[in-house]
Amino acid sequence: MHKISKLAVLTSGGDAPGMNPCIRAVVRTAIYNKLEVVGVRQGYKGLIENDMYDMEPRSVSNILSFGGTILKTARCLEFRTDEGMETAYQNLKAKGIDALVVIGGDGTFTGALRFSRKYPDIAVMGIPGTIDNDLCGTTYTLGFDTATNTVIEAIDKIRDTADAHDRLFFIEVMGRDSGAIALRAGISCGAEAILLPEKETAISELIDALKTGHLNKKSSSIVIVAEGDKNGGVYDIAKRVEQEVKHYDIKVTILGHLQRGGSPSSFDRILGSRLGFAAVNALIAGETQKMVGLEANHILLTSLEKALNQQEFRLESDLLQMADILSI
Ligand code: F6P
Repeated sequence: MHKISKLAVLTSGGDAPGMNPCIRAVVRTAIYNKLEVVGVRQGYKGLIENDMYDMEPRSVSNILSFGGTILKTARCLEFRTDEGMETAYQNLKAKGIDALVVIGGDGTFTGALRFSRKYPDIAVMGIPGTIDNDLCGTTYTLGFDTATNTVIEAIDKIRDTADAHDRLFFIEVMGRDSGAIALRAGISCGAEAILLPEKETAISELIDALKTGHLNKKSSSIVIVAEGDKNGGVYDIAKRVEQEVKHYDIKVTILGHLQRGGSPSSFDRILGSRLGFAAVNALIAGETQKMVGLEANHILLTSLEKALNQQEFRLESDLLQMADILSI
C-alpha cells in the first residue's frame, strides 16, 4: 500500500471548463489532510521541464468561475518516450513527490497508465477532464456539460437567423471520435439531423430526410455534424447535399474552440469539486492506477485501463433513437 506525503497535480491535453474547481479541490483536500502539494505547469511537459511550484490554499483562491486551467496544459509528445518519462520520474523523485493527480482525457490517461506501470512507487490517480465525454467509468467528464451548453447557446442563435432566411445550416461541433456533444446538442436544439461517428448515416438518407422535412413545411433546418463523423467533413457534406437539395440556401458553421472556453456550469463546478476531493481521498486510502468517476450520482473508482476501453463506451441508445423521432 502506498502511504503518500506529497502530491503533484497537473492538467493535460485539451482544457475543459471545471478543471479549475477540480484543481482547487485537490489542493485544499490534500492540505486539509496534511499533505504537501505541488502544481505542475503545462501537464507532462512541466514534469519533464521541472516546471513545478508549491501550492497552498490561497494558490487556488477565486478560480471557481474561470474556464481554462490555472496550471496550463499541453499535448506532450516527449512524455511518450522512455527518456521523457525517466526525466519526469527523476524530477518527481528529487522533490520527494510520491503521488500524482492527472486531470485530462484519454491521451492523458494513456500516458499516466504507462508511467505508473513503469514507476509504480509513484501513486497515480486520474480525473476525467475533457469536453468529449468519451471515457468509461463515468457518466460525465469534466467540461462536457459546460461545452454542451455553450454549443446549445450558439446553435439557438444560428436557428434564429436560419429561420429568418429559410436556410439550411451545417454546424460542426467538437468531440474528436465521440458524438456525445453532437447528440445532446442536437436533441436540445431540435436539429433536423445529427451526424455521429457512432452511427453511420448515408448522405442519401440525409438528403431524403431534408426533402421530407421541406415537404412537411419545415422552414429552416439544422444538421449537426460531429467532427469525428465519417462522411468526409462538414464542407464536403454540405457540397454533396447542395447538389440535391435546391429549396434551401446552405451555410456552414464550425464552432471550433469557443466550445472549450467559458465559465464552468454549476454541474461542472460541483463535479470538479467532487472528483478532486475523491481523488485525493483515494490516494490517501492507498489506491493507484485508477480514475475517479461519477455514475448514478455516486463516486466510483475504475482502473485506468478500463477507463480507456473504447469497446465499452457507448452513447445512450434511447437518445439515439429519440433524436430521429423528435425531429420529424
Ligand atoms: O479533446 C478535446 C478536443 O477539444 C476535441 O474535441 C478536439 O478534437 C481536440 O480537443 C482539439 O484539439 P486542439 O485544441 O489541440 O486542436
